[in-house]
Amino acid sequence: MSPKLKNLNELMDNRFSCRGFLKKEVEQKFIEQIVQVAQKVPSWCNSQPWEVTLLRPETRRLLCEKLSLSSDQAFETPDIDFPKRYAGVYKTRRSICGWQLYNAVGVEKGDRKGASQQMAKNYEFFGAPHVAVITTPKDLGAYGVLDCGAFITAFTLAAAALGVSSIPQAAIAGRAPIVREVLNIGEDRDVLCAISFGFADTDHPANSFRTERADLAEFVEWV
Ligand SMILES: Cc1cc2nc3c(=O)[nH]c(=O)nc-3n(C[C@H](O)[C@H](O)[C@H](O)COP(=O)(O)O)c2cc1C
Repeated sequence: MSPKLKNLNELMDNRFSCRGFLKKEVEQKFIEQIVQVAQKVPSWCNSQPWEVTLLRPETRRLLCEKLSLSSDQAFETPDIDFPKRYAGVYKTRRSICGWQLYNAVGVEKGDRKGASQQMAKNYEFFGAPHVAVITTPKDLGAYGVLDCGAFITAFTLAAAALGVSSIPQAAIAGRAPIVREVLNIGEDRDVLCAISFGFADTDHPANSFRTERADLAEFVEWV
């Protein structure tokens, strides 16, 4: 591996979805650096469809309060449909990473209350001091979403390069009407996800595992 690819690989290895944060804040200049690096990703026609709503502490508190009001699944009304089903290998992978998390935090099979309490931590942003909400223009459709996905990944990597941990959270998009109302997001944009970020609480059990990746042969085909 070349030294540059090694550096990138190391960064990719260092990033993980963090679900327990310290209260310590990240300086605004570093947050701006993260966003400025992330925006260098490619987008179709260089449309740069992402908009990043960064929450000040009072806004974060208010959004957390409103999102936490109901943990009822029937309450979910995302702007963009959530996956219809996970079948086959996708179901297996989803189950493995779900159990990694549950095992780490002590949620046992059949413990619905424990599972729902863990789910509810999404609406508290896992204690992260900072939250960015990512939206895309409805007009740009699936390709706008694709470009925003690239931005979200780059954001998490740029953050990791500064020692800042993060987690993309589609869970909050399930309550898009609340997010839209609290953050004053226009009807012309779709709420995609939040990125919660800050410094990892390395002692938090939810941060004690790392997810796996498939072997090359499972997803690469030379034709
Ligand atoms: C678009 C997107 C949405 C996600 N939404 C959530 C979420 O709502 N809650 C959560 O706990 N993790 C969420 N995750 C984190 C994934 O579960 C995580 O990326 C995956 O299990 C791989 O683990 P890793 O990020 O630690 O490598 C999301 C990740 C992505 C990319």
